[in-house]
Amino acid sequence: MAAPWQNEGAAAFFPCPSPAAGVDANLSLVGGAEAAHIPAETMNDLGLYRSVIRRDWRLRRMQMEASRQRYTRAGTFSKSKLMRLTGLVEPAIAALGLRRRALANTLALELNEIDMAISGLPEPFDGYRILQLSDLHVGRVPGLIETAAAMVGGLDIDLAVLTGDIQTRGHPSAAAAATEIAPLLAAVRASDGIVGVLGNHDRHDLPDHLEQRGVRMLVNEDLVLERGGARIRITGVDDVNNFYTEDAVRALRATPETPAAASIALVHSPELADVASDAGYALYVAGHTHGGQICLPGGKPLLTATEYHRKFAAGAWRYGRMLGYTSRGVGVGRRVRFNCPPEVAVLRLKRA
Ligand SMILES: [Fe+2]
Repeated sequence: MAAPWQNEGAAAFFPCPSPAAGVDANLSLVGGAEAAHIPAETMNDLGLYRSVIRRDWRLRRMQMEASRQRYTRAGTFSKSKLMRLTGLVEPAIAALGLRRRALANTLALELNEIDMAISGLPEPFDGYRILQLSDLHVGRVPGLIETAAAMVGGLDIDLAVLTGDIQTRGHPSAAAAATEIAPLLAAVRASDGIVGVLGNHDRHDLPDHLEQRGVRMLVNEDLVLERGGARIRITGVDDVNNFYTEDAVRALRATPETPAAASIALVHSPELADVASDAGYALYVAGHTHGGQICLPGGKPLLTATEYHRKFAAGAWRYGRMLGYTSRGVGVGRRVRFNCPPEVAVLRLKRA
């Protein structure tokens, strides 16, 4: 079933088809660390271009959010079936007398440091440390954001990445969610700053509120990081679990305007691993699955909430030549975890 903006009849109703009319879809945006080297007048042009792209994206996103459908690579589905199923989890755990333990498990945050051996990684980025905070789901577990803030406060980090699902089904509001994670953002000491992508629970107005707090949101965009004369590219796309569009695929496949020695994909879920691998990405960083939340002893999840690449539900993995990491997430949707502790991850890049 076609998405609303893909129907011929919707074109007049929805005047901003994808990609934005008159705009080269391959043009990538450069920001972050390199933005300081761009002349002011060019920055203005990029800012204008970005505002047009963002306006069109926001309109499409709002329409999808209002539809109560899930837009996936596999097609368009009703949300209700999955919601009904997961809604049974907490009452079932309570009936078994396990509610207190299940909730305590959601607060048992782990710090995991993982070496990722990247082929083609330039020497100045050897040892580069990326802090990943995923699936914060603010407000679901009292005290969790404060626990995470205390954990990351002492870390020496080069870049922090937020891989989506700060909100839960759009709650709290984008403004409130940004306010709630402000102590966590303030605790992060990352020399190249904080970048983020949206998850399936996040709403169209969250990027504005996070950018006001200094997070560089990547909505089907990329940025180039420069260090010692070498560059790596970070491409971040909108969620593809509920809000899939070809724009996400197009962004991953786009020819970068600024050449970089290695590229990293930030995608909320692991469901575009094959696309990113084919496009030559060296590393793919995702979350969304929460590791399954309820796992068999040993960590095998019962549910992953993904349609593609379900085996990449947690931890480090490889697809072709590309390495990947799927975080078990900081937070939860349903307040239950078994054999699947929440995590803050630090990915330490190494030259292969
Ligand atoms: Fe998610």
